Amino acid sequence: MTPMQRLFFSLLPCLLLGLPAHAAFPGGNAAYGERIFMQGINQVPACHNCHGKDAMGDDAIGTPRLAGQNPAYIYKQLVDFAANRRMDNTMYVMNTNARGMSERDWRDVAAYVASLEYRLVGLSDMQRVEEYGYPIGSRYDGRQLVLHGDPARGIPACYTCHGYNGRGLPDTYPMTGGQRYVYLVNQLKKWRSKERHNDPEGMMRAVAENLSDDDIYNLATFLTSAPRGECKESCKAFLCCVW
Ligand code: HEC
Ligand code: HEC
Repeated sequence: MTPMQRLFFSLLPCLLLGLPAHAAFPGGNAAYGERIFMQGINQVPACHNCHGKDAMGDDAIGTPRLAGQNPAYIYKQLVDFAANRRMDNTMYVMNTNARGMSERDWRDVAAYVASLEYRLVGLSDMQRVEEYGYPIGSRYDGRQLVLHGDPARGIPACYTCHGYNGRGLPDTYPMTGGQRYVYLVNQLKKWRSKERHNDPEGMMRAVAENLSDDDIYNLATFLTSAPRGECKESCKAFLCCVW
C-alpha cells in the first residue's frame, strides 16, 4: 500500500462513521462542579472518595481518571449511566450516582473535571497493578497497535479516532492516553464482551471484537503511560500527528 492508501484506509472508520457525531458540549459551571466533586450533592457521595482528590482515578478500586477528560464525553457518560445505557458493574454505584444528579449538575461536574490540569507520566504504579492480579503487557506492541492497528486481524489503529497517543478528539472520542491501567483493561474487555454497549454506531465494540487478552494488556501498558506529545518530525512520517 502507498502511504496515501494507508492513510485513507486508516481514516476510513472515522470518515464513515461521522466525526462530529454529537452536538457540542453545552458548557457548565466549574465552580459548582468542584463543590459537587468535593462534597457530593443530595444523596450522591463526593466523587473524590473514589476518583481521588485530584480526579486521577485509583487502580485499587478500578476507577478512571476524570481529570483533563473531554467534558462532552464525561457528560455523555453521566447521561448514559442515568438511563442505564451503560452499567457500572465494577462498583455498582455510578448508575445511582448519575440519577441522583440534575442535568445541570452533570454539566457542572463535567466542566470541573475537564478543567483540571493534564498531568502525566507513569500514572499507574505497575508493580501495584500486578499485585492486584493484572498482567503487564508489552509497551512496544501496544504502541504498534495504537499507531498502526493490525489490518490482517481486523484491528484498526486507535489513533485514527482517539488522536495521537490517545490524547482524545472532542467531542466524541475520549482521551485514553494517561488513563488508569486497571480501568483501561476493564473497559476493553467490556467492549469486547459487549457488556458495555453505549458507543455510538457500535464503534468500540467493532474495534475490540478482535482483540486478544494480550493485545488488551499491551494496549493498556502503552496507553497508561503514553506521552501526550507534540507533533514531532519523526512522527509525521507515520502520519500519527494529524490530530
Ligand atoms: C463509590 C465509588 C464512586 C463514587 C463515589 C463515584 N464514582 Fe464515578 N466511577 C466509579 C467506578 C467504579 C467507575 C467505573 C465504572 C466501570 O467500570 O464501568 C466510575 C466511572 C465514572 C465515569 C466514567 C468515566 C469514563 O471515562 O468513562 C464518570 C464520568 C464518573 N464515574 C463520574 C463520577 C462523578 C461525577 C462522581 C460524583 C458525583 C462519581 N463518579 C462518584 C466509582 C465511583
Ligand atoms: C472508529 C473510531 C474508534 C476507534 C478506531 C477506536 N475507538 Fe475507542 N472509542 C471510540 C468512541 C466513540 C468511544 C466513546 C464511546 C462512548 O461514547 O461511550 C471510545 C471509547 C474508548 C474507551 C473507553 C474510554 C473511557 O474513558 O471509558 C477505550 C478504553 C477505548 N476507546 C480504547 C480504544 C483502543 C485501545 C483502540 C484501538 C485498539 C480504540 N479505542 C479505537 C471510538 C473508537
